[in-house]
Amino acid sequence: ADANSITFGILTVSDRCFQGLAEDKSGPNLGKLVEALVPGARVVKRSCVPDEEDEIVRVLETWVDADNLDVVVTTGGTGFSPRDVTPEATLRVVSRLAPGLSVAMTQRSLDITPLAMLSRAVCGLRGGSLIINLPGSTKGSQECFEAVAMAVPHAVALAR
Ligand code: MTE
Repeated sequence: ADANSITFGILTVSDRCFQGLAEDKSGPNLGKLVEALVPGARVVKRSCVPDEEDEIVRVLETWVDADNLDVVVTTGGTGFSPRDVTPEATLRVVSRLAPGLSVAMTQRSLDITPLAMLSRAVCGLRGGSLIINLPGSTKGSQECFEAVAMAVPHAVALAR
């Protein structure tokens, strides 16, 4: 990718969306939001996987190692249900944590809803790529991405 563009992948993690029992609204909304808030952002990968740790790891590793995406944003699977394993998958994939991003999302979100404390979202780096977990709801994922969007270009410039 050229220096001015920031490539994004949007990964929806949801059993119900994967099975076709629910429509994925959060993923498409994030695609639009990313391109609206981050100058030079290009969403080049989109996918949906069930809440399975190995599946999530496989997509994250492929998008980072083979496709060299600058940023991978996940939506869903950050909560307390036994099926919520996106943070565990992300911890297997990243080599360095970026807890400030998680703090920024939580701090902003707590002003909106106390239930923000129930997101276990992890953010971190794998090589020069940034992985950001967001909650699953369209509202929650938008609010959390809005909290970190301004820092993303600088983060990517420093990491790569
Ligand atoms: N953060 C923001 N900003 N807005 C929200 O509505 N919802 C919370 C939390 N974070 C929310 C939020 C709720 S209700 C849950 S259960 C957790 O995110 C985890 O959501 P997930 O399991 O869909 O990832």
